[in-house]
Parts: sequence; C-alpha cells; structure tokens
Amino acid sequence: MISKRAQLLSPSETLKITALAKQLAREGKSVISLSAGEPDFKTPPHICNAAIEAITDGFHGYTMNTGMPELREAISDKLKRENQLDFPADQIVLSNGAKQSIGFTILATIDPEDEVLIPAPYWVSYPEMVKLAVGVPVIVKTTFENSYKLSAKQLEKAITKKTKALILCSPSNPTGSCYTRSELEELADVLKKYPDILIFSDEIYEYIVFENEHVSILNAAPELADRTVIINGFSKGFAMTGWRLGYMAGPKRIADAVAKIQSQETSAPSSISQKAGLAAYTGSMKPVEEMRKAFQKRRDYIVGELSSIPGIKCFKPAGAFYVFPDIHHHLGKKTPDGATIETSTDLAMYLLEKFGVAAVPGDAFGEPSGLRLSYAASLENLEEAVKRLKAGFDSLS
Ligand SMILES: Cc1ncc(COP(=O)(O)O)c(C=O)c1O
Repeated sequence: MISKRAQLLSPSETLKITALAKQLAREGKSVISLSAGEPDFKTPPHICNAAIEAITDGFHGYTMNTGMPELREAISDKLKRENQLDFPADQIVLSNGAKQSIGFTILATIDPEDEVLIPAPYWVSYPEMVKLAVGVPVIVKTTFENSYKLSAKQLEKAITKKTKALILCSPSNPTGSCYTRSELEELADVLKKYPDILIFSDEIYEYIVFENEHVSILNAAPELADRTVIINGFSKGFAMTGWRLGYMAGPKRIADAVAKIQSQETSAPSSISQKAGLAAYTGSMKPVEEMRKAFQKRRDYIVGELSSIPGIKCFKPAGAFYVFPDIHHHLGKKTPDGATIETSTDLAMYLLEKFGVAAVPGDAFGEPSGLRLSYAASLENLEEAVKRLKAGFDSLS
C-alpha cells in the first residue's frame, strides 16, 4: 500500500528527542531546548508591515509559478550587489522555503542510480531527498580536525563514474563551519576536472557569519556557474522560518526544469510572503546585523563554557547558530543508574531525561561523535543549559 519510494525514507532521528522533550514539558518538567533549527527572534517589523499591506491591498492571488517578477529582480540585484554573482531573474525560482528548492533541484537533475556526494555531518534532509529521487546518497566523512569541512583529497577520492552532484552547505548546519575562499578554490580545482558534476551550494545561513565575509563556491570559481545551483532563502537571516520563502538560482536549463516540477507540485509560494521577502531584500539590514551580533555573543559564551567541560572538544564555528562538540570521549561511560551511554542518541536522551536539556545527537547528521546544540536561545537559557550540561557530563563515569 505504501510506495517503495516512501518506504526508502528514514524517519527523522530527531523525532524521538522532540517527542520526549514535549512529553517532559507537558508533565511540567523544566526543559531547555537547544534543539531548534530556527532563530528565536521575531521577523523585523518592516517585513511584517509589507505583508500586512499586501493583505489589506488585496494582494491575495496566485503569482507567477516562479515568483513575482519584482522579487526575482530583487534577488538578482541582491546576488549582484552582495555576492558579486550574475543570475538574471529568469534563472531564479522562488519556492516555499529553501528545503523545497533543494528537493526540486535534486528531482530536476538526479536520475535513478546517480550518486550524490554529501559531506558528513550533513543537514538531515539531503540524503533523504536524494533517496526520494531514487538517487544514491554517498556520504563522505569529514574530520573534527578539519572543522568537519570536506577536503579536496576526500572529494577526489569519493568521485566515481556515477557521481552526478556534490552538495555543499556553508555556513553549515549542523557544525557552523564555513569554507574559506582558498578551501573552496581547492574543491573547485578538483571539480573542474569533472565537467559533468553539478554543485548544489546551500547558503541559507549566509547572513550569520562571524569571522569573514560569506564566500560562495562561485566566488572562488566563477567558471563553475554553468553547473552550480545556489540555494538560499529568508528563514534564517531574517528570522522568517514560518513564512516559507526560499529560492534557487542556477543555470537556465536547471531553473526551467525546477519551475516545471514546481508548476505541477505546488506552484508559487504565498503572495503575501513574497511581498515580505521583497521588503527584506530592499529594506534596512540593521535588524539582520543586530541578530548576527547577538548570535556571536552567544556563540562565544557557549563555546567557552563547553570547552571547559572535561572530555569535550569544541571549535569556534565561524557561522550559523550551532555548535557541534565532539563528545566521543563520553561514549561507553556509565550513568549513575548503571546504564551505558553507547551512542550520541543515548547521550542526548540521557541529558534530556535527567537534566532537561534538549540537543540533537550527531547520529542524526551522520557523525556519531557529535552533539548539535543550537544557541538560538536567550543568554539566560544558555547559562542554565550550560549548568545542566556540566552536571550531566560530570555524572558519567
Ligand atoms: C542547511 C539548511 N538548508 C535548508 C534549510 C531549509 O530552510 P527553509 O526554512 O528555507 O526551508 C534549513 C533549515 O533548517 C537548513 O538548516
């Protein structure tokens, strides 16, 4: 009764943690959630006002399948102004969130048995989206020592005759790592030897960077433009997760194929959200900068505290709002009840059940030695969470 395609998908490993966190909160227990993948800020008022105006002006109808022409132009201008990238409006397709843009880009390009390289730790949806397209996700393990970034050597080794695409995510969910221009140049040098490999570059966290300017692989290697798709959206930088607005910008042939799929599956995103997106890309960036600064303060705090816990290794991530400490030293240890913490999932469940801190186990992202903590939470909550985490790790022997 259920299709083979649906059966191929793994249920989200994060669900167990989320379900338990909800149950504990319902029982009246104090739970601090560091598992959220969304900013804890409100969407800036000028963006909300643009949406309210759209409603009162009666802007309720369908827009073009690929999105409002003004917004596609505004995105084209933004990519030129901020990213030095050339994507005319007809190479841009708006969607109901970056997630849809990635999914449809994969559906538009991946045939059964095509291999898609996914560096681990990865954002949970990439391998599942490839499976939905009946492609083959090829997980390429990276190392803590290299801040979980793919090296040119690892890339070269993973490429086969069947490799059709590489997915890059910078700044990264779940590690917060950002590729530098020279690291991207090295990856690009490998990719230039394989002209049939497509590159999907997920840049949804581009505004949340702390050390350097955001760099896209296309800045490092503009000659890859005829086979690179940039994925971006409004969710993270503008605190607009619920508005469901994202886009892909890529070669015309891929944009057209994505648009064709979208026209049969969902059509354009909400007209009201699109007006909000237009205000975001044409209005003041001050609120984005304020959120970025707040994230930076929290990052510095949490990295400092986590690094002081014995047996935890934690590098300072250059972007996004996650830290991904290496907790492998604690695997195999016993709880006071005599249970063994075998996996990062066991550890996350233990920290939640006994200490009321919700984090996402590295297992969910293909890296069993990690634990993802989101610092999209108030400093007050982070301070309390740190106290509990210290007690939690201290209780293991
Ligand atoms: C790396 C990455 N890409 C894409 C998305 C999806 O973003 P959107 O809300 O625009 O669908 C997320 C959201 O968690 C993400 O972390």
